[in-house]
Amino acid sequence: MKTLILFGSSTGNTSDYAQKIKETLYDAGVEADMLDVAEADGLEYGDYDNIIIGCSTWDDGALQSDFDFHMEDLEEDSPNLNGKRFAVFGCGESYYDNFCRAVDILEDKFADFGAEKVQDGLKIDTSGDDTENESSAFAWTKGLAEVIK
Ligand SMILES: Cc1cc2nc3c(=O)[nH]c(=O)nc-3n(C[C@H](O)[C@H](O)[C@H](O)COP(=O)(O)O)c2cc1C
Repeated sequence: MKTLILFGSSTGNTSDYAQKIKETLYDAGVEADMLDVAEADGLEYGDYDNIIIGCSTWDDGALQSDFDFHMEDLEEDSPNLNGKRFAVFGCGESYYDNFCRAVDILEDKFADFGAEKVQDGLKIDTSGDDTENESSAFAWTKGLAEVIK
């Protein structure tokens, strides 16, 4: 089983969580490649069984900009991701109306491509408490590891 963590992050928060998720997965026996979506030209989704997607929310509920460009390209190809498993996480701030909406958008899009969502999305409120966020991310990742390993 091959696992990819693909993330888009403008100020480093989602990138930090991608790294934490990678480490927690490793400790649970799941090795994952980690890739910044800004460097994902030519990414072959076909190489992976599990796709863990991280994306922050900007500008009234929009995808982080690098992820937005990536999705434009991907939607042109309209890939068939049948048989792939995915889960989405992302950072946002809860005082915005569209708190972590990127997570919902990407869950819909990857389901449209035929991939199977194996766990509900993780929405990380970076205006909230770091310790609480980290323990939620830890629990989320442990649960995910059980499903994808
Ligand atoms: C101009 C601006 C717009 C934002 N819009 C949203 C939003 O609509 N929804 C949300 O949940 N967070 C929003 N945020 C908060 C960011 O998503 C949050 O700071 C997040 O931690 C950034 O993660 P990143 O460093 O991985 O990009 C916004 C922040 C800024 C500065």
